[in-house]
Amino acid sequence: MLEINNISKRYKKGSEEFTALENVSLKIEKSDYMAVTGASGAGKSTLLHAIGGLVHPDSGEVLYKGRDIYKQKSKVTDEYRKKHVGFMFQQFHLMPYLTVLDNIRLACYEKHQLHSINNYLDKCSLTGLKNKYPSELSVGEKQRTAFIRAIISNPDILLADEPTGNLDPANSSILMSLVEDFHKNGGTVVLVSHDPLAAKYANRIITLEKGRIVL
Ligand SMILES: Nc1ncnc2c1ncn2[C@@H]1O[C@H](COP(=O)(O)OP(=O)(O)OP(=O)(O)O)[C@@H](O)[C@H]1O
Ligand SMILES: [Mg+2]
Repeated sequence: MLEINNISKRYKKGSEEFTALENVSLKIEKSDYMAVTGASGAGKSTLLHAIGGLVHPDSGEVLYKGRDIYKQKSKVTDEYRKKHVGFMFQQFHLMPYLTVLDNIRLACYEKHQLHSINNYLDKCSLTGLKNKYPSELSVGEKQRTAFIRAIISNPDILLADEPTGNLDPANSSILMSLVEDFHKNGGTVVLVSHDPLAAKYANRIITLEKGRIVL
């Protein structure tokens, strides 16, 4: 379903060049639940962003169903981001001026998707908070809102960056079981985590070190 061939990404920090990813190659099958681990700064978020159509690698290719997502017309890349990928960011990136409900509604592009919002709010114990703004939420509540926003349009792939970072064990297991449901229902999952509990659900684990896959 996804084929990542030899991607590299470098960032300039002042006069220094820093390699975030170096010649990373990876195949992700539809049935995969892949965990990505590695130390802080190893390139995990950069890899996830590259897979999600958000960070253009300097070299190499990211193929979705055989086509390079970075070499299509912008309309096709937009469609990939909008319809095929659900992204949970490490820093959530909820819209601060929109309520929980409106943040989720924003990710819907077909009417029927709006109809399942209440069901998800209920599953995530967010029904009573749907008219609150992100600044009024706890970290766990923000994270669950971000989860619903990522999967509400029924994407093929869920890319989750540290979805349980900062969560207590109870909230962490609620979120992991939601991610597992998404996978059981046929979704592909790529999840970045330091949390052994999170990695335990995965059928594959890769480890990054200084931008390279080491395991
Ligand atoms: N936009 C950017 N500009 C400059 N350097 C960046 C940028 N994004 C990432 N980097 C650098 O690239 C390296 C990899 O960053 P990345 O965010 O992918 O790491 P990570 O494995 O997700 O770390 P963490 O576990 O702390 O989230 C880091 O050294 C980081 O400082
Ligand atoms: Mg990161």
